[in-house]
Amino acid sequence: MQLKKRPRRLRKTALHRRMIQETHLTLDDLIYPLFVCPGSSVKQAIASMPGQYRFSVDLLVEECQQVRDLGIPAVVLFGLPEKKDLVGSDAYSETGIIQTAIRAVKKHVSDLIIIADLCFCEYTSHGHCGIIADGDVGNDQTLELVYKTAVSQAAAGADMIGPSGMMDGAVGVIRKALDENDLSDRAIMAYAAKYASSYYGPFREAADSGAQFGDRSTYQMDVHNADEALREVALDIEEGADIVMVKPALAYLDILYRVKQTFHMPTAAYNVSGEYAMIKAAAANGWLNERNIVLETLTAIKRAGADMILTYFAKDAANYLQEC
Ligand code: PBG
Ligand code: ZN
Repeated sequence: MQLKKRPRRLRKTALHRRMIQETHLTLDDLIYPLFVCPGSSVKQAIASMPGQYRFSVDLLVEECQQVRDLGIPAVVLFGLPEKKDLVGSDAYSETGIIQTAIRAVKKHVSDLIIIADLCFCEYTSHGHCGIIADGDVGNDQTLELVYKTAVSQAAAGADMIGPSGMMDGAVGVIRKALDENDLSDRAIMAYAAKYASSYYGPFREAADSGAQFGDRSTYQMDVHNADEALREVALDIEEGADIVMVKPALAYLDILYRVKQTFHMPTAAYNVSGEYAMIKAAAANGWLNERNIVLETLTAIKRAGADMILTYFAKDAANYLQEC
């Protein structure tokens, strides 16, 4: 039959398909999240995230060496402090868990970007992302702690600060903190459009950071909103963000697409713990081919507009990509 247009002509062989492939997932796109806890020789499995662990600083250093050797450019570090209190003081202590971890990794591992997660939910006894004032998280009171935390993380050697608390003005305060303390070369990866999502469940177990009362809906974004995400991202860019993030990734690819198309900024997507757990659970049951589903998922996130992807699959993906 005579058909003028036959799209299948360009799908005929693997070589044809390579020639027209639009999206290329590479090692350069990957950022690996890691949890660091007190003690030594600790590598504690996280039940809801098979294959992920909490590491003490000594083993975190070894893990980071492996991550670097795989060719992954960056890690994001989450700290589990020895002690929690009302104001999350370990978060901005010079000898805090994250500061200690950053210093150790910086000292022993070269060629690896360290992004420090900046939030308080792991550090506060109540599990909220800031300090409590009048029964809610006090925005401006929390910003004072954000300032101190950013300086302490950057002074310890963090290459980038990643504020994940969704406090208004946090990016501006961090930019000011870095600039006033001779740390103006450190970048900000802003969790710009972060939704109040149930996909964070496994993370809260991993980081022991669940809220002890209420929820995060007075500071994280409402799932129903999309234009609001663009306003949030615009604010963070205005305040000095170097990279903007959308979180979670998969149910929010529309947001990711719009953010990239609107702002043309370096854009990150967080393939969060619940997204990881779903794939892991299905694969463990033999219901999905893990390798294929991981590569497809990460490729889709990239296709939607992500320049980088924070993902617990980073090491697996790095291995898969080296095999292809
Ligand atoms: C804490 C924080 C969360 C995540 C990253 N930083 C959870 C939350 O907001 O409760 C989620 C990451 C994931 O689910 O993988 N501010
Ligand atoms: Zn938090």
